[in-house]
Amino acid sequence: MAEAASAAASRPADFPRRVNRLAARISPWWIYGLGLIPAGWYFYLGAVNDLGANPIQTFEHLLGEWALRFLVATLCVTPLRELTRINLFRFRRALGLLTFWYVLFHFLTYFILDRGMNLPVIVVDIAKRPYIIVGMVAFLCLVALAATSSNRAIRAMGRLWGWLHRLVYLVAILGPVHFFMSVKSWPPRPFVYAGLLALLLGYRLVRSIRDQRRASA
Ligand code: HEM
Repeated sequence: MAEAASAAASRPADFPRRVNRLAARISPWWIYGLGLIPAGWYFYLGAVNDLGANPIQTFEHLLGEWALRFLVATLCVTPLRELTRINLFRFRRALGLLTFWYVLFHFLTYFILDRGMNLPVIVVDIAKRPYIIVGMVAFLCLVALAATSSNRAIRAMGRLWGWLHRLVYLVAILGPVHFFMSVKSWPPRPFVYAGLLALLLGYRLVRSIRDQRRASA
């Protein structure tokens, strides 16, 4: 009897339930705290002059790449719940906002440290490197998403909120495009992020086509 009970308890179906129970006990603030560790660590390495020969560019690159990592994590939450029943929805806003914070730090590094807030220099830079415009469009989308991420905004905006938050899909396209355009050769990293984001967007596209077909059948 006891054996049967313990076998049932360790069934794979119990795994999502256990993860969900654990997740319910973890405050989303932990996600913010842990998520900001890489930024703090790179800032520290920069301050002690341990970021290599080109510290500002390295800092800028690392922050941009972490923004993509958090974007991937944010977009994983829905398919994870639908495909495995692991529900990490209570962390989705924190992951999305971490994406925003990392892009903001990435932008500020470019604007303040890299270009010394020199607007004429930045204008020339934009003309020479159009991927900066692509990044700026993605950044503006993230500003709109972050500004409307509170419960109050969700309540006030109703259906409009859902429509506006589809901008995250545009960010998921523009982020890798910006990455591809910024590199001179063909390193594997942009392919990895582009592949993961294409998979996550493709999943949603297939699901929405399937739902529309079901609704019209
Ligand atoms: C205002 C918006 C943005 C500006 C001004 C900007 C600027 C830049 C610049 C100057 C570089 C470095 C290129 C080089 O010299 O090698 C860069 C690279 C990069 N950016 Fe952005 N960016 C912006 C938005 C974004 C966004 C929205 C994302 C992602 C969601 C992103 C992710 C990256 C990545 C992953 C790299 C390449 C890192 C690497 O080569 O290791 N950026 N960006």
